[in-house]
Amino acid sequence: MDWGMRNRLAGIIKPDTGRCVMLAVDHGYFQGPTTGLERPGDTVAPLLDYADALMLTRGVLRNVIDPGRRIPIVLRVSGGTSILVDDLSDEEITVSIEDAIRINASALALSIFVGSPHEKETLTNLARLCDDGHKYGIPVLAVTAVGKEMSRDARYLGLASRIAAELGAHIVKTYYCEGFEKVVAGCPVPIVIAGGKKIEERDALTLAYDAVSAGAVGVDMGRNIFQSKWPVQMIQAVRSIVHGGKTDAEAWEWLEGAIG
Ligand code: 5RP
Repeated sequence: MDWGMRNRLAGIIKPDTGRCVMLAVDHGYFQGPTTGLERPGDTVAPLLDYADALMLTRGVLRNVIDPGRRIPIVLRVSGGTSILVDDLSDEEITVSIEDAIRINASALALSIFVGSPHEKETLTNLARLCDDGHKYGIPVLAVTAVGKEMSRDARYLGLASRIAAELGAHIVKTYYCEGFEKVVAGCPVPIVIAGGKKIEERDALTLAYDAVSAGAVGVDMGRNIFQSKWPVQMIQAVRSIVHGGKTDAEAWEWLEGAIG
C-alpha cells in the first residue's frame, strides 16, 4: 500500500487507538430529507469535533460543509435509486474519480447488494472503484447494504463482507449481528458498523460496545446520533466506548449525567 493510501486511512482509523468514529449523514442520497437531516449543515456542525471522519455526498458537502474544516471525507459515490422504487440495488457509480480527487476525499464509499437483483453490477462497480481509487491512493469503503427481504445474520453479513474485501475494499461497513466475531474473523480488512434505525440511546451504546468488543474497529453511525434528542452528548458517549475503552454501562452513566 503506498504512502497516500496509508495516510488517508490513518486519517480515518486513528493510529493511536486503531479505532474510528465515523459520522454518516449520506442518507439523503436515496431517502431525500431524512428526519434530522432536513438542514444537514446545522445537524453536522456541532458534531464534527467528535467525529474522526464524515460520510456524505458531494452535494451536501459542497453546499453546507465549511471547506476550512479539517475532517476526513468519506465520499458516497454510489446511487441512482430512491425509496420510491422496490429494487434499491440498481446503483451505479455517481461520482468520477476526478471529482473525488478535486473534493480531496479521504475514501470513497459504495454500497454492494449481495443477493439482490443487481448483485453483479454492484460488485463489479466496487471492483472498478477499487481500481480507480488504487491509481490515486484513495481507499474504498464498501457498504454491505441489506435488501428488505434479507436476514442480517452472521452467515449473510460474513459472506457480503468477505466478498467486499476480496474485491479490494479497504474498509467494510456492515451491520452488527449475533455471532459478529465470525463476520470479523472472515474479513481481512477493518470493519465498522452502521447503527441502523434509531433505537434507545442505551441500546445504541450497547450496540457500539458489542461491535468493538467483537472486533469492529468502530462505527459509521448516523441516525442513532443525529436523531437522538442529545446528538452531541450521544456522539461523545459513543466515542468514549470506541476510543476511550469505556463499557456501554459506563458510557450510559456518563450520558445520563450529561443530559441531566
Ligand atoms: C446507507 C448508509 C448509511 O450511511 C448508513 O447505513 C448510516 O448509518 P445509520 O444506519 O447508522 O443511520 O450507508 O446505505
